[in-house]
Amino acid sequence: MQTELLKSDALGRIEIVVEGEQRWIRRDTRCARFGMHWIARAAAAREARVLKALAGLEGVPRLIAWGDGVLDRSFLDGAPMQQARPTDPTFYRQAHALLKQVRLRGVVHNDLAKEPNWLQREDGDPALVDFQLAWVSRNRGSLFRLLAREDLRHLLKHKRTYCPQAMTPIELRVVGRRSWISRIWAATGKRLYKLVARKVFGYWDNEGQGRVRR
Ligand SMILES: Nc1ncnc2c1ncn2[C@@H]1O[C@H](COP(=O)(O)OP(=O)(O)O)[C@@H](O)[C@H]1O
Ligand SMILES: [Mg+2]
Repeated sequence: MQTELLKSDALGRIEIVVEGEQRWIRRDTRCARFGMHWIARAAAAREARVLKALAGLEGVPRLIAWGDGVLDRSFLDGAPMQQARPTDPTFYRQAHALLKQVRLRGVVHNDLAKEPNWLQREDGDPALVDFQLAWVSRNRGSLFRLLAREDLRHLLKHKRTYCPQAMTPIELRVVGRRSWISRIWAATGKRLYKLVARKVFGYWDNEGQGRVRR
């Protein structure tokens, strides 16, 4: 078994594991920084729960195994958005359809402002990774619907960057309509988060320079 490091931070490591013909993606929280283990484990456990709820959906990783702080998910071939820079409107149509499927399973992603959490696969189709902050809801109340709209708004912001000519008037309006939650976050939470990220974790967003569009 061979591993190749993709990313390492205070919450652990992300690796590609290769064994013979097989390859998959591992989130290893055992090497999280001291004192961060419990956060890292809780986040990975959350991701495992969400991936179970999304089982069988094309465009998200399949949960292979979760236990002892190690989460294995299937590998999706492709490149993160900041590298792929998808300019085809079809990509965004499919991404919107994917978000609808995710939402139908009662899941909101909550971290889609980050380009590295979007992939463009070899065949051009979109895919989503990194469900650590995602949320599965049974009753899909007003908070759920608001967060689902935020997921969509983040997709449309990426579309506005890479495919501006295909933005419809309605989409431009959605992008401009920030929810109260995102306003409060921008005014207070984001600053606090950046401070904690810098001081405690030693980074802000180091995922291959992918931009974050709030
Ligand atoms: N299943 C996967 N298939 C292919 N690449 C992946 C997969 N999961 C993650 N990656 C790559 O690894 C990067 C980090 O993984 P991610 O789950 O986003 O970890 P983190 O929570 O540390 O951001 C992603 O931005 C993506 O480029
Ligand atoms: Mg990520």
